[in-house]
Amino acid sequence: MISFADEIKQGIPTALPAAKAWDPAINHAPKRKEILSPAEKKLAIANALRYFPKDQHAILAAEFAEELQTYGRIYMYRFMPEHPIFARSIDAYPGKSEQAKAIMLMIQNNLDHRVAQHPHELITYGGNGAVFQNWIQYRLVMQYLSEMTDEQTLVMYSGHPMGLFPSHSNAPRVVVTNGMMIPNYSKPDDWEKFNALGVTQYGQMTAGSYMYIGPQGIVHGTTITVLNAVRRLAKTRDDIKGKLFLTAGLGGMSGAQPKAGNIAGVISVTAEVNPKAARTRHEQGWVDEIISDLDVLVTRVKKAQASKEVVSIAYLGNVVDVWEKFDQTGVHVDLGSDQTSLHNPWAGGYYPAGLSFEQANDMMANDPENFKTYVQESLRRHAAAVNKHTAKGTYFFDYGNAFLLESSRAGGEVMAENHIDFKYPSYIQDILGPMCFDFGFGPFRWVCASGKPEDLEKTDAIACQVLETMMAESPTEIQQQMADNIQWIKGAQENKLVVGSQARILYADAEGRMRIAAAFNEAIANGEIGPVILGRDHHDVSGTDSPYRETSNIYDGSRFTADMAIQNVIGDSFRGATWVSIHNGGGVGWGEVINGGFGMLLDGSAQAQRNLTSMLHWDVNNGIARRNWARNENAVFAIKRAMEAEPLLKVTLPNLVDDQLLDGLF
Ligand SMILES: NC(=O)c1ccc[n+]([C@@H]2O[C@H](COP(=O)([O-])OP(=O)(O)OC[C@H]3O[C@@H](n4cnc5c(N)ncnc54)[C@H](O)[C@@H]3O)[C@@H](O)[C@H]2O)c1
Repeated sequence: MISFADEIKQGIPTALPAAKAWDPAINHAPKRKEILSPAEKKLAIANALRYFPKDQHAILAAEFAEELQTYGRIYMYRFMPEHPIFARSIDAYPGKSEQAKAIMLMIQNNLDHRVAQHPHELITYGGNGAVFQNWIQYRLVMQYLSEMTDEQTLVMYSGHPMGLFPSHSNAPRVVVTNGMMIPNYSKPDDWEKFNALGVTQYGQMTAGSYMYIGPQGIVHGTTITVLNAVRRLAKTRDDIKGKLFLTAGLGGMSGAQPKAGNIAGVISVTAEVNPKAARTRHEQGWVDEIISDLDVLVTRVKKAQASKEVVSIAYLGNVVDVWEKFDQTGVHVDLGSDQTSLHNPWAGGYYPAGLSFEQANDMMANDPENFKTYVQESLRRHAAAVNKHTAKGTYFFDYGNAFLLESSRAGGEVMAENHIDFKYPSYIQDILGPMCFDFGFGPFRWVCASGKPEDLEKTDAIACQVLETMMAESPTEIQQQMADNIQWIKGAQENKLVVGSQARILYADAEGRMRIAAAFNEAIANGEIGPVILGRDHHDVSGTDSPYRETSNIYDGSRFTADMAIQNVIGDSFRGATWVSIHNGGGVGWGEVINGGFGMLLDGSAQAQRNLTSMLHWDVNNGIARRNWARNENAVFAIKRAMEAEPLLKVTLPNLVDDQLLDGLF
């Protein structure tokens, strides 16, 4: 049997490995719809065969044609590696560049069976968030990374490694683009077509950028969101008790909702149609109970409300049925949201009411037009049921999954009276935008590359100490955020959030990120801990332009532009990032967003110290500057503070105009 290091260095095997059986125990991606014409199918096969010598073409052409017919994509299952995929200690990776090894570790984490949603289809989360399009790309990328030096950069075109190009030691080791399209070719069906052809992929955010850290990444953000949403209804911890939160989705990110509900201290009901997803979360301890009967659910929830329990319940079934049933039986819902994958409504992201899970899977592949009408009808019912609850006092917010966008497109009653805005806010408009992003607080994260839990524990302690010192000096405007983040990091070990690599997420502002990273770099230099990989979710202050999500609280008209995200990735790349990525379509859907991210290896060196200061400062203040220019009050405050702290920062500030002056003009 080939060793791990040898298989990595081998790249594309010269002799064909044995064909692999399809494993029914694994959670597989749904069959993608048939979209290619016969001529395009031939092109897809020819494209796939480019990786192989001619003498293998006859066997592989037939095999890939069958994969295309059966699954709608060519995954090249035969080439799945022998080695188990998970984040090893950085020392276990073969290679000449520590930075490249760090990237291998992160790629393997994204494809770990415990972490990835559909590991055999190379999908990390969100139903279509791909690391690579096929297994040959995985093999080739790992080989390139194992042979590259710090004088080269690997260029990634939507999963395909274009190759190694000469660069320099402080250049990014990898530059990733995913799904970048000519704007007119960015409709959902364009993704279906060009992905089936093998020339692009949907990288989501942290999937195609190798920065996913399992559901923990999202638990923190979800906790902040649920906590602040419930704070709108209840001021004290005691008032929060007994409040009911109704939502849907126990998948990649959505699976964090019940855990966040428990941390925030509410009763949560999360509907999930896929039994495998619900059971996985239950077995992981992320949701307390599973109920599959609506009457039993009503009785259980009423009991929990009466006794003010903190409990998370998964309902195995369609969320539309729950909203309707709770309305009919008088269950009062305090908070409501939805995290079905509506960024991908026609291909498995949203299961319509009135069809079983199996019927829906069959119809979306074999009768996609009919499936679409079911989805639209279900969305209209969904919106109508939510409206009945909000009329009774429920606070409903869109969770950035395009629920309001797709409901409106389906004709659901979700528009405000001005016919421009939605009736309900997005979680960014009301919560994360003004309270976090405008001040620079966002989902900073790190991974201990040694793979040692004790390193993670030490980094938690270092980060906590930095935040406590900072809190003592912080202005009142950000005291609540600092307190929430300190509480989070203190409880992080106890909450057992690690799935996969030894990773931690911690919301922090620019100063916090820089001070924590500098303290890590010092601890590495002193030999207290091994190397640390820094990163963040793309869902952040500066990385993402997304008019219905990250930048939905930008009101100067610029939310439909993407200058900020593009500037951000360019700026990160020449300020010392180890790798950078820019994507079309993460989160809310193909064509709806541009988002970028970075990874940075800290090795205790003086160069790492210079890089972290320069890059993290830019990576947060770019977005604050833009939010300030959009006249967001908290961002104006934050950027003025940043300018006081750094004399080389000089940002254009907006002048506010008197509304009365404008009233008379037109
Ligand atoms: N958690 C966050 O902080 C966050 C932030 C922004 C956006 N989002 C968005 O939330 C969505 C979900 O992300 P994910 O990674 O969990 O996706 P996912 O596809 O892994 O999970 C969604 C789950 O919803 C279930 N589902 C679909 N339709 C349903 C229905 N009608 N009733 C009940 N269950 C249904 C699916 O079976 C699936 O398990 C995405 O659109 C994502 O962009 C999440």
